[in-house]
Amino acid sequence: MSAAGVAAPAAGGEGGAAPVLEARGVTMRFGGLQALAAFDLRLEPRELVGLIGPNGAGKTTAFNAITGVYAPTGGEVRVGGARVNGERPHQICARGVARTFQNIRLFKELSALDNVRVACHLGARAGWAAALALTGGFLRDEARLTRRAGEFLAVMGLAHRRDEPAKGLPYGEQRRLEIARALATGPKVLCLDEPAAGMNASEKVALMELIRKIRDDFGLAILVIEHDMRLVMGVSERLVVLDHGVTIARGTPEAVRRDPKVIEAYLGDSYLEERHIAVPDDRPGRKS
Ligand SMILES: Nc1ncnc2c1ncn2[C@@H]1O[C@H](COP(=O)(O)OP(=O)(O)OP(=O)(O)O)[C@@H](O)[C@H]1O
Ligand SMILES: [Mg+2]
Repeated sequence: MSAAGVAAPAAGGEGGAAPVLEARGVTMRFGGLQALAAFDLRLEPRELVGLIGPNGAGKTTAFNAITGVYAPTGGEVRVGGARVNGERPHQICARGVARTFQNIRLFKELSALDNVRVACHLGARAGWAAALALTGGFLRDEARLTRRAGEFLAVMGLAHRRDEPAKGLPYGEQRRLEIARALATGPKVLCLDEPAAGMNASEKVALMELIRKIRDDFGLAILVIEHDMRLVMGVSERLVVLDHGVTIARGTPEAVRRDPKVIEAYLGDSYLEERHIAVPDDRPGRKS
């Protein structure tokens, strides 16, 4: 259950398997603002979990606290049982937690292939000395990495974009390229921050199907932030719902969909808007 010498985490009561990722009481404060309050999450191997909530709910903050972009101001994050608070993003990535960003962060001038090759290097064996000497080992590694990078591009339906600069790709393909790059780091957990943002309806459906296939084929646990409720409920086994930094519900899509707190906090506006009913404008914390 635990890494050697690390106290075993308490059983979470959700099946007993070792969680690949665990957040316990994670809190994130920015000055006077509590962006995330006592956030708990247990992600089991191969689980696909949706993280949802209105704008400003703290979803991206949760990702940032988990992946080392921010050091949590309270609580702890564990990866495979090991406490990772205070570790840098590349260290947490090396432990097997990869992510994509709400605002795409690609190497814009590099080709699609090179964006993925850079990530493949995390798993490469030959060091800088070999690289400088262009030894056989290094060249073999390079050939292997190029082949692997091409395979990740193909998985994400981007083989035809291999030599094009990332900045020239349509938006939806840039998002898929980010996922290819995250996959190339060899993660056990993939955290996707609004991977379908900016896509049209059919692209979104195709992406969600692809996300499920990635989980199945690579055997990963996936945590996905997505605003489109129907999409995220269709793909997730479990949901965690944030509002104003507080977890207001968690459970199966069926249970969450019926939860009055969720309807009020998140489904309320769109439900009303779809039915052309005036949205009350006196609710706190709403961004349009
Ligand atoms: N670095 C920061 N400094 C100060 N405040 C921040 C910072 N990052 C996030 N916040 C604030 O924390 C709150 C949660 O933001 P966060 O980006 O996590 O929301 P979100 O749920 O991802 O929203 P969205 O759906 O719009 O992406 C917001 O009020 C935001 O303004
Ligand atoms: Mg966000």
